[in-house]
Amino acid sequence: MALFRKKRGTNETMKHGAKLITIAKPKSPIAEQFRTIRTNINFMSVDEKVKTMAFTSANISEGKSTVTANVAITMAQAGKKVLLIDADLHRPTMHQTFELRNAVGLTTVLTSEADEIYMNQVVNADVIPNLSVLTSGPIPPNPAELLSSKRMKAFLKNVSSHYDVVIFDMAPILEISDSQVLAGEMDGIVLVVRQNVTQKAGIKRAVEMLKISKTRILGYIMNDVRTGADGYGYGYGYGYGYGYEQDSKKA
Ligand SMILES: Nc1ncnc2c1ncn2[C@@H]1O[C@H](COP(=O)(O)OP(=O)(O)O)[C@@H](O)[C@H]1O
Ligand SMILES: [Mg+2]
Repeated sequence: MALFRKKRGTNETMKHGAKLITIAKPKSPIAEQFRTIRTNINFMSVDEKVKTMAFTSANISEGKSTVTANVAITMAQAGKKVLLIDADLHRPTMHQTFELRNAVGLTTVLTSEADEIYMNQVVNADVIPNLSVLTSGPIPPNPAELLSSKRMKAFLKNVSSHYDVVIFDMAPILEISDSQVLAGEMDGIVLVVRQNVTQKAGIKRAVEMLKISKTRILGYIMNDVRTGADGYGYGYGYGYGYGYEQDSKKA
């Protein structure tokens, strides 16, 4: 028996940021797949408006931050006014991804005593046209308390009126309790599943937890799908399902 568990995950995105293929290669098949994901999310928003949404996954390193940033970009590219918020207060990455300072951010807003923290002092407006980014801010010792605070609720209400859509990158739902709390505050959640990495039991448990917090699951994204012989080694691939239940029957 191995004495130590193999180290899971990677800190690459924390150090260097996520790869923004939707900016680097907007005409590539992968960027096209992100646009399909955007369209599918829009379909889910037809009857009940989805103003606030978050991306999460069962565990770390399944591609949440990469997917969140790229989907946010495609929405901005389609002309929507988007605010992207880094609410993964355990492994924040958005400041690296968009090369922003992280001296102030979400935690600054949530810990400020007075209400005079004006959003325009903390939000990085139009990092790319239509996309504004609120980085995590300094990491607090009590992320769960901050994210479930009254101030967070008030902030959510206030901020969503200024944008067409507010997108959150969240910590993984099975590992970090604040994710479940935050999920309950969202209009919808998209679950990121990494092929051959996320275990079925993990997905099931994540779905159960989201149901307990009465969160609407908008769908899931199958990350890192390797299609066909020439697709292998290519690295990225995204699929989109309209709900776990429907697709799990096929699995
Ligand atoms: N489809 C993919 N193909 C190859 N590498 C990927 C893919 N999606 C994510 N990665 C890599 O996996 C690592 C974790 O991704 P990240 O977006 O930070 O995940 P999370 O936010 O869930 O922890 C990063 O190094 C990222 O570049
Ligand atoms: Mg992440």
